[in-house]
Amino acid sequence: MNRSDALIEIDTIRKSFGDFQVLKGISLSVQKGEAVCIIGPSGSGKSTILRCINGLIPIDEGFIRVGEHRVHELKTEKQMRPLRHQVAMVFQQYNLFPHRTALENIMMAPVQVLGHDRAEVEDRARKLLKKVRLSEKADSYPGQLSGGQQQRVAIARALAMQPEVILFDEVTAALDPETVKEVLFTIRELVEDGLTCILVTHEMKFARDVSQRVCFTDRGLIVESAPPAELFDNPQDPRTREFLGQVL
Ligand SMILES: Nc1ncnc2c1ncn2[C@@H]1O[C@H](COP(=O)(O)OP(=O)(O)OP(=O)(O)O)[C@@H](O)[C@H]1O
Ligand SMILES: [Mg+2]
Repeated sequence: MNRSDALIEIDTIRKSFGDFQVLKGISLSVQKGEAVCIIGPSGSGKSTILRCINGLIPIDEGFIRVGEHRVHELKTEKQMRPLRHQVAMVFQQYNLFPHRTALENIMMAPVQVLGHDRAEVEDRARKLLKKVRLSEKADSYPGQLSGGQQQRVAIARALAMQPEVILFDEVTAALDPETVKEVLFTIRELVEDGLTCILVTHEMKFARDVSQRVCFTDRGLIVESAPPAELFDNPQDPRTREFLGQVL
């Protein structure tokens, strides 16, 4: 039984590392097709939230559901597998395989992990390369690509698994300003296509333009959550105001 019709449902999760409580009761629900941005100071728990959602970190207390997967109840890697196919994650470091071409990087997991037909996967991979505007780089190795190009290959690789949700963790943080634009453009298109995603970002303008909702985290709590125009123009909590005062 699901508690709500949201695609992702997080209820009062808590997580400590040793004596340090990193998440102090986080609740969030995300509808199918919704793009939610998480903003907040360094160390406030943003990455930890994402890692709990796809089961990379077990939570101490609370409830997490993604689709039909009750994440907090999954214990073994084998139990996690179906969840990991449904939830893709893209990180700041793109972690492409250096000795595989862009096309091969995109094809690997669908062929090896999902056991999909090679020809069908290649077809899908080429379409995805086109989508991230890198068709001409199919046969390039990661070392021959710019940071932004590598990040777009990483996004295509995530999409190749046909996930229901993608979690983006500061995917532009390591890029130079020109390249940031290309990557944000790609993500914006995916959101417009109806991809469900949660994006941790320091790009406030992007958060404002692309998301339906922005959550501001501070010291392990979601302090404030609102549509971007509200949160950026009329923040209610003093901590949100202070943070926005520093970054805007
Ligand atoms: N595996 C771990 N073991 C111990 N402490 C951890 C671990 N992972 C995260 N932390 C701590 O939890 C806190 C939250 O970390 P998290 O990475 O979620 O922050 P963040 O909001 O993503 O920050 P940033 O904007 O710098 O990426 C930090 O104080 C961090 O040091
Ligand atoms: Mg982080």
